[in-house]
Order: sequence, then structure tokens, then C-alpha cells
Amino acid sequence: MNMNIIGKPLTRVDGRTKVAGKARYAADFNQPDQLYAVLVSATVGLGRVREIETAEVEEMPGVVSLITYRNAPKLTYLPHKGVIDPAVGERLHVLQDDTVRFYGQPVAIVVADSLDHAEHAAAALRIRYDAQRPMVDHADQQVARIVPEAGGADRSRGDADAAVAEAAVKVDEYYDMARENHNPMEPHATIAAWSGDRLTLWSKSQFLMNEQAEIAAVFGLPTENVEVICPFIGGAFGTSLRTWPHVTLSALAARHVQRPVKLVLTRKQMFFTTGHRPRSLQRVALGATPDGKLTGVVHEGTGETSRYEQFTEALTAVTDYLYSCPNVRTQYRLAQLDTGTPNHMRGPGEASGIFALESAMDELSYKLGIDPIELRRRNEPQIDEAEGKPFSSRSLMRCYELGAERFGWARRSPEPHSMRDGRLLIGMGAATATYPAFHAPSSARVRLLADGTAEIEAAASDMGPGTYTSMTQVAAEYLGLQLEQVRFRLGTTDYPPTPSHGGSWTMASVGSAIRAACLEAQSQAAQRAIADQNSPVFGVSREGVEWTEGRLRRRGDTLPGLSYRDILASAGNPIEADGFARRDPEIAEKYSMHSFGAVFAEVAIDPDVGTIRVRRVVGAYGIGRVVNPLLAKSQCTGGMIGGMGMALMERTVLDARDGRPVNAHMADYLMPVNLDMPELEALFVDEVDPHVNPLGVKGLGEIALVGTAPAIANAVFHATGKRVRKLPIQIENMLTA
Ligand code: MOS
Repeated sequence: MNMNIIGKPLTRVDGRTKVAGKARYAADFNQPDQLYAVLVSATVGLGRVREIETAEVEEMPGVVSLITYRNAPKLTYLPHKGVIDPAVGERLHVLQDDTVRFYGQPVAIVVADSLDHAEHAAAALRIRYDAQRPMVDHADQQVARIVPEAGGADRSRGDADAAVAEAAVKVDEYYDMARENHNPMEPHATIAAWSGDRLTLWSKSQFLMNEQAEIAAVFGLPTENVEVICPFIGGAFGTSLRTWPHVTLSALAARHVQRPVKLVLTRKQMFFTTGHRPRSLQRVALGATPDGKLTGVVHEGTGETSRYEQFTEALTAVTDYLYSCPNVRTQYRLAQLDTGTPNHMRGPGEASGIFALESAMDELSYKLGIDPIELRRRNEPQIDEAEGKPFSSRSLMRCYELGAERFGWARRSPEPHSMRDGRLLIGMGAATATYPAFHAPSSARVRLLADGTAEIEAAASDMGPGTYTSMTQVAAEYLGLQLEQVRFRLGTTDYPPTPSHGGSWTMASVGSAIRAACLEAQSQAAQRAIADQNSPVFGVSREGVEWTEGRLRRRGDTLPGLSYRDILASAGNPIEADGFARRDPEIAEKYSMHSFGAVFAEVAIDPDVGTIRVRRVVGAYGIGRVVNPLLAKSQCTGGMIGGMGMALMERTVLDARDGRPVNAHMADYLMPVNLDMPELEALFVDEVDPHVNPLGVKGLGEIALVGTAPAIANAVFHATGKRVRKLPIQIENMLTA
């Protein structure tokens, strides 16, 4: 199909709304008679609440209610697991007993007539604990390391350990990546309002359907009694995929005081109960022939989880399929810690796993004296060797070629510590990026109106990638309408269900459902025209008519044809069509589906003070069809910035004595800001993938971050000859021998 609107670099349809400050985020939906809730977070890392001095705080100005485990209603907590909730374990039950499982766990809520009054009272509340020392250091030898009960933890083909042991050239190293927190601009926020046993939540969420189901399960309500509304999200990166305890607490408080309640987490609280990227410890061992053919690959990784749930991510999965090798063994373990449960953070698992693998590949390239890109070329597989299936499409080497050309890789001198700009050391590094091309079942609705315009609805979210815009493009394309004639609405559970806004599958899933709904609506419009005695296509067979650019004609006819408006004007009521799309299981069985990319980074390092500046990042990606190149580039730029943070800045530090995150604020949790920004460039290879989904899109959100950190770390090595295997790389790593 020739595309007119899909593929165009259009600016955001919601851009004006946002720039004008008219976009309403969860905390903006103030309700009449609303009260303000503030959470009190535990200040010990493990133990019990012994005593709470409630009396004085209850008498403080404006305080309406103080809720603790002693007076909180017992909640139902019916079993519920969305695809995003850990398959093993049970979620935190809030204010149901005196147990403190981790530092920052909510132990009380103050509800007051103003935010100031609520904060003041919350700060005054005195709680005494029986505290024990929590286990929070992943590297601690006392920490229990367990085999995850869900998901393929271990995979093996051939005899990888023997192959590495016998290899002519080998690399065998450990990699350590820090815990990170998502830290989007918009804090978590929920406004809860009850009307009898019906609950409305204006809540920051990447997965409205799951929030609805989870809160219904927690309160023992029929799902349809809960409505979740979230038209805009100010960044999330995965932290709003799950429904965290604060959502339950806002609804609990609202029911307790019989008034709408608004609860906004503080920046500090967003380090406690809303997930984090788990720290990972990994070993990668590579064996190769002298001419650079991999003979053995071992990848062992340990992530983190809480005591009460098993959070798993795809830490070692990339190693199974990325390169050709007959002997590969991957192993995944979890360290159980006294912290809140981690969750997905952009490129979850893949971003961490690939740092270890792509650092090791870079190390191997120097040992072999082979160019790092050439080393990848020599190990490029014909098929997915783990699954024994062909790739639906794989453009990794084309990405390397395009990226290398644009980046100027040929200017790189191969020796480490050999390039300078004045007194600065210059380094160039490259790394592979990859992420699965997922596709989840989704639905959508199309309404063709009498004025010839269309409304599209789906219970999706838009956390920033431009979903409003790209979905409008898909609908306009398949209906043959102009962009301005289509209005796409998302952000309420009243709309047709969609999967989570995550996993890079929104366009594949929701987009395919919108396409299906548009085609169905179009078909209904044709039927109506054919049945209408006054229409020029009256009585023509279905095969005898065709749509071109939103007009219906007899096949081969040159007359202007009928617009939706013409068809609807004569027949009256609008046309409404539901669409549903899922991946064909036969295709899923047949192909291995992934995106691939190549990331290049240049760094400049001051040899005297050790400061590392990223000068340029170029990423080239094979992601199937690009629906909107402007938005896609913007998404990649954001991912690269996340990758810069991972490589050089971001880490959440826990105090070993009590599990307190010591840098739970934006002054000490470092992230790249505008002044840190280098030139960032994203390129897309022309890639047609007929298998992934009807739109041919593979998704972009996650792969945009994956690969950036190892490209930067590899550039740091190239600049200095110092290999740093612990992220973030810090100034002191550059100064010590
Ligand atoms: Mo992304 S970690 O699936 O929001």
C-alpha cells in the first residue's frame, strides 16, 4: 500500500495544547470538595511499627483524618496479576498490618483541607519502630540468590564453558550496573472520588486497564465500577506501568473521609514505592578463534527483587540470539533484598544485559586486533540460533554501515589512547542495540460522523512518544482522510481496551487495532452506499467498488465518487466500528522478531581532572516502518539521553544501615541536562518487515536507549585505555590507575 500520511514527519497534534499549558495531567483534575493526602513513609528498612502518636496530629489545623494500619479498613486484595505484575509473589498490602518491609513503605496517611496542612501534620507525626538491619546490598555475600520461578532463567546450546576454556582468545569479566530510578518530570499522582461504590481515578498510568482491574481487585469491586482517566503523562519510562500502593491509598483515604482526595508523591517518595531499574551484576565470558569467530559465550546475570515478589526482566536474553555461536549458555538469578519491588525501566533487561555483552565484545576486538564493527560482521548469524528460526527482518549490519558512514568511524585510529583534541583525549566507541518486536492484543473504535470527520478511541496512554499524533496518522491513512479530519482520543477505561503503553508495542498493537477498525468502518460505509437507492453505487457488488483517498467509486470509475460525508448525509446516523488486532500465532511460531541498531559515541576526556564529555552520539536503527520520522528521531534522542545517564551519571545509592536512598532528590541523583547535551542524531535504515504486523512496525521506545551506554563506555576505553566495567563511570575511575 502506498502511504500518504504514515511516514510523514508531522508535528504533534497535541503540541499546541501542551505548549499553551492546556494539557491536563492527573494532578490537574481538581474535584469539588477535594481534600489533600500526604503519605508518611517508614524511616526504617525492616521491622515493625511499635507506636504511633496520633492524638496531637489529629488535632492539628486542617487535619481531617489520620489513617494508619490501626484504623484503616481491611482491603479485599483479590488475586490479580496483569501482564506487568510479577508472576510470582504477592503485592504489598498497604496499612493492613504493622510490618515494615522496606525503607519508605507507606505507614500512615494524613488527610487535610490543604496540602500545607497535610504536609505539616505528616511531618509532625512521631512513629517508633522495632527496627532490624535490612539486607539491601546486592553484592553482600549474605544475600540469597534465587532462581526465578517464572520465565526461562537458563538457556544453553552446545558446551559453552568448555568452548570458552579451550578458546584461543578469550575475555572473562564482571560487570556491575547501578540501581536507577525513572525520575520522570511528572510525579505520580492520583485523585480519587467515590460515588457510592463507584470509583473514579484521575491517575498517572501507562496501563489504564490494569489500574482499573487492580484497584477493583484490591477493593473487591466489579471491574466496571472503577474508571481510570489519564489523558496526558509527563514522562514515565516504565514507572507508571504498575499500579503502586499510592493509588490504593488515595482511594482508601477518599472512602474513609467520604470526599475526593488528591495524593501526589514527593520526588523523594518516588525512590521508594514506584519501582526502579534493579542493579545488575553480570559475568560475560567470550571465546574466539584468532580470526574473530566466536566459539563460546557465557552470560550469567543477577538482578534484584523484593522479598515479597519476584520481578524478572530479560537480562541475558539478548545474548541468546545476537551473534552466531554454537556454544552459548545464559543464566539469570535474582538477589532478594529488603527493598520495594523493582519494575521495568526503559529497555528493561536488554539495556543492562547488552552493556555487559557489548563491553565484552569490544574487549575481545582489542585482544584480537580486529575492528569492533568487523568483529560483529564476522559473527552475524543467518538465523536466530537460539530459536532455530529466521528473523522476520534483521538489518544490523546495514545499521552499522549507515551509522559508521554518518559518524565518520573511518577517522578513528584503532589504538586506544591515540586520539587527541588539544589536551583532551578523544575516544570513539560503538555497540549493538536490539529489542524484541512485540505485539499484544488490542482493540479500538472508529466513529464516522455526518460531517465527514472521524473519531477514534482506545484506552491507551501517551507518555511522550507522540501516540496522539502517530495514531491520528494511522487512522487518517486507512480512512483516506486528512489529518485534521481525524480526532484520536485516549486516556480513559471507557474506551476499548488496549495493552500497556510500554514494551515498545503501542504502535504495533493499538495501531493495528485502529487500522482494523478503520477498515471495518470503511466496509460498513461501502455497504451503506451500496444499499442506498439514491447512491451512484446502488446495487453494485462489494467487489465492484473501491476506496481511493477516502472516496468510494465503482472500480475503475473516474467520477469524483462518494465521501464519507456524502454516504452519511443520506443515511443519517454515524457509523461505528470496533477493531481488534493480535499477532497471528502461526507467524509468531515461524519467525524471530526483533529490532536492531548500531550506536556510535564520541567522548572527550580531560586527562587531568577526569571529566568525561559526550561529544556526539549517532544511532542507526532498523525498526521496520517509521510512522513519523520527526517523532521517531525525538524518541531516539530521549533514549540516547537516558543511555548517557546510565553510562555516566545515574545511580541510586542505598545506605546499608537502613536501606535509605541517600540521593533521593534531583540535586544528587544526577541526570544529563541541557548543558550536557552533545549532538544527537538518529537514522533509520529502510526496512520492510512483512511479518511483524499489518503496519510493518517493530517499535522504538526501548531500543532507543539500548546500546547507548556500552557505546559510551567503549568510547571511554578507546580514549584512555582504561576499561571501566562498573556503571555509572565516574571521574575517579579516570584518575585511578
Ligand atoms: Mo517501558 S519500560 O515498557 O515503559
